[in-house]
Amino acid sequence: MPDLEVRSVLFVCLGNICRSPTAEGVMHKLIGRDGLESKIHVDSAGTIGYHTGEPADLRMQEAAARREIPLASVSRQIERADFDRFDLIIAMDRENLRDLRALDSHREGQLRLFSEFLPPGSAADVPDPYYGQAGFDRVIDIVEQGCPAILEHLLRGS
Ligand code: 4NP
Repeated sequence: MPDLEVRSVLFVCLGNICRSPTAEGVMHKLIGRDGLESKIHVDSAGTIGYHTGEPADLRMQEAAARREIPLASVSRQIERADFDRFDLIIAMDRENLRDLRALDSHREGQLRLFSEFLPPGSAADVPDPYYGQAGFDRVIDIVEQGCPAILEHLLRGS
């Protein structure tokens, strides 16, 4: 069981080299700003293992560095044990959410879509910059918009 004192969140995208590392990095920045290192644990993973062991995409790293967002994650594929390790698992788009449900169909209570933490009317999916659905800076804009609400959600413990 997860430690009751520490709230944990795992961000999940397809390759774990663009969107979910950015969400992890933005959360780390917020956690550092608020001195919450001992209270919140953050990680990220991909639904595919194709990029396992790789750092974030260089274009994503450069865009993040310009905005002082740490992007230290190394790509890994999600595994079923992650459902036991994390309180909350946040899919960056609906395809990622479908893949998470396919991995374990009994964990609905832990799963959220990133866009649930965005203002009403926002697009359902964080666009995939790797396939050119949006620019890397646009992805950061969206992630920066949603992460404060995710932090609040974790601190409320709900
Ligand atoms: P991400 O972007 O899911 O935001 O990390 C992608 C990175 C790599 C691939 C797909 C999406 N890929 O198919 O290699």
